[in-house]
Amino acid sequence: MKHTRIDISEFIERREKLMAQMPENSVALIPANKEVTRSRDTEFLFCQDKDFYYLTGFHEPDALLVLVKTFECETILFCRDKDPLQEVWHGRRVGAEKAQQDFKVDHAYTLDELEQVLPMYINGRDAILFAQGLQEEFDRLVFACLDVLRNGAKQGFSAPTTTIDIRPMISEMRLIKSDAEIAVMREANIISGNAHSRAMRFTEHGTFEYQVEAEILHEFAFNGARAAAYGSIIGGGENATILHYTDNDEVLIDEELLLIDAGAELSGYAADITRTFPVNGKFSEEQAALYQVVLDAQIAAIETIKPGSNFSLANIAAEKVLTEGLLKLGILSGDIDTLIEQRACKKYFIHGLGHWLGLDVHDVGDYQMDENKQQLRSFEPGMVMTIEPGLYIDGEADVEHKWQGLGIRIEDNILVTADGYENLTVNAPKTISDIEAMMANKKN
Ligand code: GLY
Ligand code: MN
Ligand code: MN
Repeated sequence: MKHTRIDISEFIERREKLMAQMPENSVALIPANKEVTRSRDTEFLFCQDKDFYYLTGFHEPDALLVLVKTFECETILFCRDKDPLQEVWHGRRVGAEKAQQDFKVDHAYTLDELEQVLPMYINGRDAILFAQGLQEEFDRLVFACLDVLRNGAKQGFSAPTTTIDIRPMISEMRLIKSDAEIAVMREANIISGNAHSRAMRFTEHGTFEYQVEAEILHEFAFNGARAAAYGSIIGGGENATILHYTDNDEVLIDEELLLIDAGAELSGYAADITRTFPVNGKFSEEQAALYQVVLDAQIAAIETIKPGSNFSLANIAAEKVLTEGLLKLGILSGDIDTLIEQRACKKYFIHGLGHWLGLDVHDVGDYQMDENKQQLRSFEPGMVMTIEPGLYIDGEADVEHKWQGLGIRIEDNILVTADGYENLTVNAPKTISDIEAMMANKKN
């Protein structure tokens, strides 16, 4: 993710907007992520902390962004120093000097200077803003700096007396996407949609789930997305009823459904798409009937989305269609109004309808829940969310045998616009006929 598609001017604007919200005479500290060990001396593919990335666009581990607000505002970046030996082994580093120029901060220092210099930026400020508990090592660094200042009263040092959690401020900013962010998310969706189409063409009896995953990752990479935004879920048959199934190591069987929940990460931004389709390319009568119920529920939910609406209203629309459908198929029985009121469909629709989407797949931003866990926050233009109803009937469920072992989820990514919504997920086949047509087009 070295080359971000967001212009540096936007990162500067974000820092300015954050500093405008900070109290007078305060300092904010936002750390980069650390590398994470995979085994012994090898690491997982590095993923930058998304708050840090949002404010800097800087892609190296171990860095620290400092924002100081006094009578003027200053931005400071601490980062790894240039080091020919380390760079020959582990890769190039930007270095403090170039970081200052490229990432347009007022000052940049190397990490060696952190212990000496950081307390001086905190000294004399009334408030310190940081994400306490995010990283143990970072917490220790902050507390050590505060100790230096508290113990240095005789030398004229003073430590902030107010600590503020900075996360809600950044989260609220991240919740409303800019035009540039929306453009990246549109593209991440196109790439991911093509990957789902590729998976449909590739899948057949005897394929392993991880082989389908390989096709998905191939499509991501060949279109500019190095990695998936989250561990791809490739669940055949009853594995589709495990919500976050990521083992992906079983063989696919004719006449079973395959649920794929996979999205590319592009320039740090996630797509999050789910499609469910028959391994042999043709829905059985039962599969088609249950699939259509989920699809109708998803469409009903999406159609409610506009400024001023909320997740709760979308959820009411989805649950109504799911309940009516389950009743019609004989999976639920009773009086429709009572079943809707009792939320009887939740027996099979076992997760929430959707979530914010952005730099994180389950993106930041308050949902404003009421006591019934309904998400009541009003939608505003620039918010992006998933709408992902599902029905999961495991092999032991107390229903007719023909419904057992079916797991279906359909997930699109929706942008709230000035007068409604834009579905960013435009090219992943979703209707029964479109899916069957794509699958008839095998491996082309
Ligand atoms: N991919 C995880 C989710 O849909 O929430
Ligand atoms: Mn999702
Ligand atoms: Mn998903």
